[in-house]
Amino acid sequence: FGGCVHIDLLIHSAAQVVTCASPGGPRRGAAMREPGIIPGGAVAIDSGQIVAVGPSTELRAQYRAAHEIDASGKAVCPGFVDPHTHVVFAGDRVAEFEQRIAGTSYMEIMAAGGGIAFTTRATRAASVAQLVAETHPRLAAMLALGTTTAECKSGYGLDTASELRILEAIAVLDQAQPLELVPTFMGAHALPPEYASHPDAYVDLVVNEMIPAAAAWYRASHFAARGTPFFADVFCEQNAFDVAQSRRVLWAAQAAGMYLKAHVDEFTALGGLDMALELGAVSVDHLDATGPEGFARLAASSAVGVVIPAVNFNLGSTHFANARAMIDAGAALALTTDINPGSAPCPSIPLVMAIACRYQRLLPAEALTAATINAAHAIGLGAQLGSLEPGKQADVLILSTPDYRHLAYQFGGNLAAQVIKRGQVVHSSL
Ligand code: NIG
Ligand code: FE
Repeated sequence: FGGCVHIDLLIHSAAQVVTCASPGGPRRGAAMREPGIIPGGAVAIDSGQIVAVGPSTELRAQYRAAHEIDASGKAVCPGFVDPHTHVVFAGDRVAEFEQRIAGTSYMEIMAAGGGIAFTTRATRAASVAQLVAETHPRLAAMLALGTTTAECKSGYGLDTASELRILEAIAVLDQAQPLELVPTFMGAHALPPEYASHPDAYVDLVVNEMIPAAAAWYRASHFAARGTPFFADVFCEQNAFDVAQSRRVLWAAQAAGMYLKAHVDEFTALGGLDMALELGAVSVDHLDATGPEGFARLAASSAVGVVIPAVNFNLGSTHFANARAMIDAGAALALTTDINPGSAPCPSIPLVMAIACRYQRLLPAEALTAATINAAHAIGLGAQLGSLEPGKQADVLILSTPDYRHLAYQFGGNLAAQVIKRGQVVHSSL
């Protein structure tokens, strides 16, 4: 033990360590199929960071750890990154769930003043403390299923004060529990009822009042101090914001220092994909109605395509974004739950992986890549987390199965035996 380096934690003897390593950027195309498996692997962790990944025999000789985890018979992989969530809201939409079962569509409910507008009424009436109290159990469920980082959007306030309350709730929640949050301002999520007859005046409000207020909130927040990026997002869709309105919002957000995302082609291909790519969006999300030309433009861009099969599943649809064609075109693809009260009340990344493998024909390796390193790139944190590589944050899952492919093969359960965030065990089912 003479030359041993002292560290905090050594996870050793894993049946497999799946690194999802991808130096330099997200994995694209065929490279998404290479998850980076080390049989009999180990992960050395100190001060919340990964210091080494390799065969257990080598790492056990090199490091002496204050704590050890024997991962015999278990697979070890990066914590999941959920790159698109609307997890902060008040109330629920279980009544709409029943309406949809009876035959009313999501878009019909939205056009009739339900949907996002329904949740907006409940959210506007909620204090920061109430939003925190209602959201906390959802984050706990996500963490227990293996998600260690999640993007988190505002967008159920739709007035300046309510949007700021949601952003404040995101900041409180980030500091109150282990699941790391990355904030996104989405004042342009829907048209609030009071602006139904003059949508451009609402866009004026977003551009002239909400975006400067959100930018000021971020500058004063712990997120800015920590170096966590701040995003803006827009719902470019019929009955929401058209391409010109979406461009105005994103352009103003970019001018205020925010990174960009966009909901595009969820139901209708309006042209939002090209608009968002032209503005340099970090991710473009949904892509259900995108066609082959769009896949090629996505593949040629630096943006990550985020697909959301939990929405199609939840809406009882058999149509899914053509993620297979996106990968085959060379795009960098990520998966997300989109957890929200309407289109996807789902905390589970493994369930999303299971759906993606069955209906979008992803291989388990592609689904894992899409839920880890590529998802981290979709929220601007690909250099900090999302893979098991020296220098990265020690966000690690220990699975109760020796083969990571069971994450997608099985469904409806929970294979996360231990969840580690910044080197600390934050959830254990052992
Ligand atoms: O990503 N598409 C817009 N926003 C959410 C749905 C939000 C809701 O239904 O409350 C989505 O699907
Ligand atoms: Fe969404």
